Amino acid sequence: MRHLLSARDLTKNRAISLLDTALEFSAVAERSVPKLPTLRGVTMVNLFFEDSTRTRLSFEAAAKRLSADVMTFQVHGSSVSKGESLQDTAQTVEAMGADIIVIRHHQEGAASELATSGWVHSPIINAGDGMGEHPTQALLDAATLRNRFSAEARRADLEGLRVTIVGDIAHSRVAKSNASLLTTLGAEVTVVGPPEFLPKDILKWPVTSLENLDEAIALQPDAIMMLRVQKERMEPGTNLALDSYVADYCLTAHRAQRLPADAIVLHPGPMNREVEIASEVADSTRSVILEQVRNGVSVRMAALYEVWGNQS
Ligand code: NCD
Repeated sequence: MRHLLSARDLTKNRAISLLDTALEFSAVAERSVPKLPTLRGVTMVNLFFEDSTRTRLSFEAAAKRLSADVMTFQVHGSSVSKGESLQDTAQTVEAMGADIIVIRHHQEGAASELATSGWVHSPIINAGDGMGEHPTQALLDAATLRNRFSAEARRADLEGLRVTIVGDIAHSRVAKSNASLLTTLGAEVTVVGPPEFLPKDILKWPVTSLENLDEAIALQPDAIMMLRVQKERMEPGTNLALDSYVADYCLTAHRAQRLPADAIVLHPGPMNREVEIASEVADSTRSVILEQVRNGVSVRMAALYEVWGNQS
Protein backbone atom coordinates (compact mmCIF):
# COMPACT_ATOMS: atom_id res chain seq x y z
CA MET A 1 0.00 0.00 0.00
CA ARG A 2 1.69 3.20 -1.13
CA HIS A 3 -0.81 5.53 0.56
CA LEU A 4 -3.47 5.14 3.26
CA LEU A 5 -6.35 7.31 2.11
CA SER A 6 -9.60 5.58 2.92
CA ALA A 7 -10.94 2.66 4.96
CA ARG A 8 -12.85 1.61 1.84
CA ASP A 9 -9.53 0.80 0.15
CA LEU A 10 -8.65 -1.76 2.82
CA THR A 11 -9.32 -5.38 1.97
CA LYS A 12 -9.91 -7.75 4.86
CA ASN A 13 -6.41 -9.24 4.49
CA ARG A 14 -4.69 -5.88 4.42
CA ALA A 15 -6.64 -4.63 7.41
CA ILE A 16 -5.80 -7.78 9.38
CA SER A 17 -2.14 -7.51 8.43
CA LEU A 18 -2.04 -3.87 9.63
CA LEU A 19 -3.76 -4.86 12.88
CA ASP A 20 -1.29 -7.74 13.37
CA THR A 21 1.67 -5.40 12.81
CA ALA A 22 0.12 -2.90 15.24
CA LEU A 23 -0.18 -5.63 17.86
CA GLU A 24 3.51 -6.47 17.49
CA PHE A 25 4.41 -2.80 17.77
CA SER A 26 2.26 -2.35 20.87
CA ALA A 27 4.80 -4.40 22.82
CA VAL A 28 7.38 -1.64 22.17
CA ALA A 29 5.47 0.71 24.49
CA GLU A 30 6.19 -1.66 27.40
CA ARG A 31 9.97 -1.47 26.98
CA SER A 32 12.15 0.73 29.17
CA VAL A 33 13.29 2.48 25.97
CA PRO A 34 10.13 2.42 23.82
CA LYS A 35 11.87 2.79 20.46
CA LEU A 36 12.71 0.72 17.39
CA PRO A 37 15.27 1.79 14.75
CA THR A 38 12.90 0.87 11.87
CA LEU A 39 12.42 4.35 10.34
CA ARG A 40 15.74 5.90 11.30
CA GLY A 41 16.66 8.58 8.76
CA VAL A 42 13.04 8.96 7.57
CA THR A 43 11.19 12.24 8.12
CA MET A 44 7.45 12.30 8.69
CA VAL A 45 5.61 15.59 8.40
CA ASN A 46 2.32 16.27 10.12
CA LEU A 47 0.47 18.62 7.77
CA PHE A 48 -2.46 19.74 9.89
CA PHE A 49 -4.89 22.24 8.37
CA GLU A 50 -7.48 21.45 11.06
CA ASP A 51 -7.28 21.31 14.84
CA SER A 52 -6.34 18.08 16.50
CA THR A 53 -5.00 16.84 19.80
CA ARG A 54 -4.81 13.09 19.75
CA THR A 55 -4.38 12.33 16.06
CA ARG A 56 -1.46 14.73 15.64
CA LEU A 57 0.26 13.70 18.86
CA SER A 58 -0.40 10.06 18.13
CA PHE A 59 1.28 10.23 14.70
CA GLU A 60 4.17 12.07 16.30
CA ALA A 61 4.54 9.46 19.04
CA ALA A 62 4.28 6.65 16.47
CA ALA A 63 6.98 8.17 14.25
CA LYS A 64 9.29 8.76 17.21
CA ARG A 65 8.86 5.20 18.48
CA LEU A 66 10.09 4.09 15.07
CA SER A 67 13.03 6.56 15.30
CA ALA A 68 11.75 8.77 12.46
CA ASP A 69 12.24 12.53 12.54
CA VAL A 70 9.08 14.62 12.81
CA MET A 71 8.18 18.01 11.38
CA THR A 72 4.88 19.61 12.28
CA PHE A 73 2.91 22.11 10.26
CA GLN A 74 -0.10 23.72 11.86
CA VAL A 75 -2.26 26.01 9.85
CA HIS A 76 -2.50 28.63 12.61
CA GLY A 77 0.45 30.93 12.22
CA SER A 78 1.37 29.50 8.78
CA SER A 79 1.51 31.13 5.36
CA VAL A 80 -1.91 29.65 4.52
CA SER A 81 -3.30 32.89 5.96
CA LYS A 82 -1.30 34.62 3.20
CA GLY A 83 -3.13 32.53 0.60
CA GLU A 84 -0.63 29.70 0.16
CA SER A 85 -2.18 26.70 -1.58
CA LEU A 86 -2.10 23.02 -0.56
CA GLN A 87 0.20 22.35 -3.52
CA ASP A 88 2.74 24.95 -2.42
CA THR A 89 2.59 24.00 1.25
CA ALA A 90 3.09 20.30 0.45
CA GLN A 91 5.90 20.96 -2.04
CA THR A 92 7.61 23.22 0.49
CA VAL A 93 7.66 20.58 3.23
CA GLU A 94 8.86 17.95 0.79
CA ALA A 95 11.68 20.24 -0.36
CA MET A 96 12.69 20.45 3.31
CA GLY A 97 13.05 16.69 3.48
CA ALA A 98 9.63 15.20 4.24
CA ASP A 99 9.49 11.51 3.26
CA ILE A 100 5.99 10.65 4.52
CA ILE A 101 3.14 13.18 4.63
CA VAL A 102 0.33 12.81 7.17
CA ILE A 103 -2.42 15.24 6.26
CA ARG A 104 -5.53 16.49 8.03
CA HIS A 105 -7.60 18.93 6.01
CA HIS A 106 -11.05 20.48 6.25
CA GLN A 107 -11.78 19.69 2.61
CA GLU A 108 -13.11 16.24 1.75
CA GLY A 109 -10.81 14.57 -0.78
CA ALA A 110 -7.71 16.65 0.11
CA ALA A 111 -5.56 13.61 0.98
CA SER A 112 -6.51 11.82 -2.25
CA GLU A 113 -5.85 14.97 -4.22
CA LEU A 114 -2.36 15.17 -2.76
CA ALA A 115 -1.74 11.50 -3.50
CA THR A 116 -2.85 11.67 -7.12
CA SER A 117 -1.88 15.22 -8.12
CA GLY A 118 1.78 14.48 -8.76
CA TRP A 119 2.68 17.58 -6.70
CA VAL A 120 4.68 15.46 -4.25
CA HIS A 121 6.22 12.00 -4.29
CA SER A 122 5.88 11.03 -0.62
CA PRO A 123 3.47 8.38 0.61
CA ILE A 124 0.35 10.12 1.98
CA ILE A 125 -1.65 9.12 5.08
CA ASN A 126 -5.10 10.62 5.52
CA ALA A 127 -5.53 11.82 9.12
CA GLY A 128 -9.06 13.10 8.42
CA ASP A 129 -10.43 14.96 5.38
CA GLY A 130 -13.49 17.05 6.19
CA MET A 131 -16.56 14.85 6.27
CA GLY A 132 -14.69 12.24 4.22
CA GLU A 133 -12.62 9.56 5.92
CA HIS A 134 -10.41 8.87 8.91
CA PRO A 135 -8.90 5.45 8.22
CA THR A 136 -6.40 5.28 11.10
CA GLN A 137 -9.22 6.05 13.56
CA ALA A 138 -11.21 3.11 12.17
CA LEU A 139 -8.12 0.89 12.45
CA LEU A 140 -7.53 1.86 16.07
CA ASP A 141 -11.17 1.22 16.88
CA ALA A 142 -10.94 -2.17 15.18
CA ALA A 143 -7.74 -2.92 17.13
CA THR A 144 -9.52 -2.06 20.39
CA LEU A 145 -12.50 -4.27 19.52
CA ARG A 146 -10.25 -7.11 18.41
CA ASN A 147 -8.18 -7.02 21.61
CA ARG A 148 -11.36 -7.21 23.67
CA PHE A 149 -13.47 -9.68 21.76
CA SER A 150 -11.40 -11.66 19.29
CA ALA A 151 -8.15 -12.33 21.16
CA GLU A 152 -9.62 -14.96 23.47
CA ALA A 153 -11.36 -16.73 20.59
CA ARG A 154 -8.11 -16.47 18.57
CA ARG A 155 -9.99 -14.78 15.77
CA ALA A 156 -8.19 -12.40 13.44
CA ASP A 157 -11.39 -10.58 12.44
CA LEU A 158 -14.56 -9.24 14.07
CA GLU A 159 -16.99 -11.77 12.59
CA GLY A 160 -20.43 -11.47 14.15
CA LEU A 161 -19.51 -8.67 16.56
CA ARG A 162 -22.36 -6.18 16.98
CA VAL A 163 -21.24 -2.56 17.06
CA THR A 164 -23.59 0.40 17.45
CA ILE A 165 -22.42 3.89 16.47
CA VAL A 166 -24.45 6.74 17.94
CA GLY A 167 -24.74 10.42 17.12
CA ASP A 168 -23.80 12.76 14.35
CA ILE A 169 -23.35 10.10 11.67
CA ALA A 170 -23.90 12.46 8.73
CA HIS A 171 -21.01 14.77 9.58
CA SER A 172 -18.67 12.11 10.90
CA ARG A 173 -15.66 10.78 9.01
CA VAL A 174 -15.15 8.44 11.98
CA ALA A 175 -18.58 6.86 11.42
CA LYS A 176 -17.97 6.55 7.69
CA SER A 177 -14.56 4.91 8.02
CA ASN A 178 -15.75 2.63 10.81
CA ALA A 179 -18.84 1.52 8.89
CA SER A 180 -16.63 0.32 6.03
CA LEU A 181 -13.77 -1.18 7.99
CA LEU A 182 -15.81 -2.91 10.68
CA THR A 183 -18.11 -4.51 8.11
CA THR A 184 -15.09 -5.56 6.02
CA LEU A 185 -13.86 -7.31 9.18
CA GLY A 186 -17.21 -9.09 9.61
CA ALA A 187 -18.90 -6.96 12.27
CA GLU A 188 -22.58 -6.02 12.10
CA VAL A 189 -22.85 -2.25 12.38
CA THR A 190 -25.92 -0.28 13.47
CA VAL A 191 -25.95 3.51 13.32
CA VAL A 192 -28.27 5.55 15.51
CA GLY A 193 -29.18 9.22 15.43
CA PRO A 194 -31.97 11.71 14.85
CA PRO A 195 -33.06 12.04 11.20
CA GLU A 196 -31.03 15.24 10.70
CA PHE A 197 -27.89 13.36 11.78
CA LEU A 198 -28.42 10.36 9.49
CA PRO A 199 -26.76 10.70 6.07
CA LYS A 200 -29.11 11.12 3.12
CA ASP A 201 -27.49 8.14 1.36
CA ILE A 202 -27.71 5.88 4.42
CA LEU A 203 -29.32 3.11 2.37
CA LYS A 204 -26.04 2.77 0.50
CA TRP A 205 -24.12 2.25 3.75
CA PRO A 206 -23.45 -1.36 4.81
CA VAL A 207 -25.30 -0.78 8.10
CA THR A 208 -28.69 -0.93 9.80
CA SER A 209 -29.97 2.48 10.85
CA LEU A 210 -32.22 3.36 13.79
CA GLU A 211 -33.52 6.61 15.23
CA ASN A 212 -34.10 5.42 18.77
CA LEU A 213 -31.16 4.82 21.11
CA ASP A 214 -33.17 2.86 23.66
CA GLU A 215 -34.31 0.51 20.92
CA ALA A 216 -30.68 0.10 19.81
CA ILE A 217 -29.60 -0.69 23.38
CA ALA A 218 -32.40 -3.25 23.69
CA LEU A 219 -30.76 -5.09 20.78
CA GLN A 220 -27.83 -5.71 23.17
CA PRO A 221 -24.78 -4.69 21.15
CA ASP A 222 -21.27 -5.86 22.13
CA ALA A 223 -19.89 -2.34 21.75
CA ILE A 224 -21.33 1.13 21.52
CA MET A 225 -19.40 4.05 20.03
CA MET A 226 -20.54 7.55 20.95
CA LEU A 227 -19.70 10.40 18.56
CA ARG A 228 -19.13 14.06 19.26
CA VAL A 229 -21.83 16.51 18.18
CA GLN A 230 -19.80 18.40 15.58
CA LYS A 231 -21.21 21.90 15.69
CA GLU A 232 -18.45 23.19 13.39
CA ARG A 233 -19.60 20.93 10.55
CA MET A 234 -23.26 21.78 10.59
CA GLU A 235 -24.77 23.88 7.87
CA PRO A 236 -25.76 27.31 9.15
CA GLY A 237 -29.38 27.29 10.18
CA THR A 238 -29.36 23.67 11.38
CA ASN A 239 -31.78 23.54 14.25
CA LEU A 240 -30.21 21.34 16.84
CA ALA A 241 -32.10 21.47 20.08
CA LEU A 242 -29.30 20.39 22.37
CA ASP A 243 -31.59 19.64 25.31
CA SER A 244 -33.68 17.20 23.37
CA TYR A 245 -30.56 15.66 21.78
CA VAL A 246 -29.14 15.05 25.26
CA ALA A 247 -32.44 13.59 26.48
CA ASP A 248 -32.73 11.21 23.53
CA TYR A 249 -29.11 10.31 22.68
CA CYS A 250 -26.79 10.86 25.63
CA LEU A 251 -25.32 7.61 26.92
CA THR A 252 -26.30 8.06 30.55
CA ALA A 253 -25.42 5.69 33.37
CA HIS A 254 -29.03 4.56 33.34
CA ARG A 255 -28.84 3.63 29.63
CA ALA A 256 -25.40 2.04 30.01
CA GLN A 257 -26.79 -0.24 32.72
CA ARG A 258 -29.09 -1.82 30.15
CA LEU A 259 -26.15 -2.89 27.95
CA PRO A 260 -24.88 -6.46 28.22
CA ALA A 261 -22.54 -6.93 31.20
CA ASP A 262 -19.39 -7.16 29.07
CA ALA A 263 -20.32 -4.52 26.47
CA ILE A 264 -17.76 -1.76 26.01
CA VAL A 265 -18.09 1.97 25.32
CA LEU A 266 -15.91 3.76 22.77
CA HIS A 267 -15.48 7.43 21.85
CA PRO A 268 -12.93 8.79 19.37
CA GLY A 269 -12.52 12.01 21.38
CA PRO A 270 -12.70 14.88 21.92
CA MET A 271 -15.71 14.26 24.17
CA ASN A 272 -18.48 16.68 25.00
CA ARG A 273 -19.11 15.32 28.47
CA GLU A 274 -22.80 15.35 29.42
CA VAL A 275 -23.81 15.92 25.78
CA GLU A 276 -23.25 12.61 23.99
CA ILE A 277 -21.81 10.76 26.97
CA ALA A 278 -22.20 11.14 30.73
CA SER A 279 -18.98 11.51 32.68
CA GLU A 280 -20.01 8.59 34.84
CA VAL A 281 -19.98 6.34 31.74
CA ALA A 282 -16.86 7.86 30.17
CA ASP A 283 -14.94 7.17 33.37
CA SER A 284 -16.51 3.75 34.08
CA THR A 285 -14.93 0.32 33.69
CA ARG A 286 -16.89 -0.22 30.46
CA SER A 287 -15.09 2.68 28.85
CA VAL A 288 -12.15 1.82 26.59
CA ILE A 289 -11.54 5.42 25.54
CA LEU A 290 -7.94 5.56 26.76
CA GLU A 291 -7.28 2.09 25.38
CA GLN A 292 -8.33 3.52 21.98
CA VAL A 293 -5.76 6.29 22.43
CA ARG A 294 -3.03 3.75 23.31
CA ASN A 295 -3.93 1.56 20.34
CA GLY A 296 -3.84 4.65 18.12
CA VAL A 297 -0.09 4.91 18.54
CA SER A 298 0.63 1.30 17.55
CA VAL A 299 -1.85 1.39 14.64
CA ARG A 300 -0.13 4.52 13.31
CA MET A 301 3.27 2.87 13.74
CA ALA A 302 1.94 0.04 11.56
CA ALA A 303 0.58 2.48 8.97
CA LEU A 304 3.88 4.41 8.76
CA TYR A 305 5.86 1.18 8.55
CA GLU A 306 3.65 -0.18 5.81
CA VAL A 307 3.49 2.91 3.57
CA TRP A 308 7.23 3.40 3.88
CA GLY A 309 8.04 -0.25 3.12
CA ASN A 310 5.69 -0.49 0.15
CA GLN A 311 6.55 2.58 -1.78
CA SER A 312 9.10 1.23 -4.19
C1 NCD B 1 -12.35 12.86 15.37
C2 NCD B 1 -11.99 13.65 14.14
O1 NCD B 1 -11.27 14.64 14.21
O2 NCD B 1 -12.45 13.22 13.11
N1 NCD B 1 -11.45 12.90 16.40
C3 NCD B 1 -10.28 12.19 16.33
O3 NCD B 1 -9.62 12.15 15.31
N2 NCD B 1 -9.94 11.49 17.41
C4 NCD B 1 -13.73 13.02 15.79
C5 NCD B 1 -14.22 14.38 16.20
O4 NCD B 1 -13.61 15.40 15.94
O5 NCD B 1 -15.29 14.40 16.80
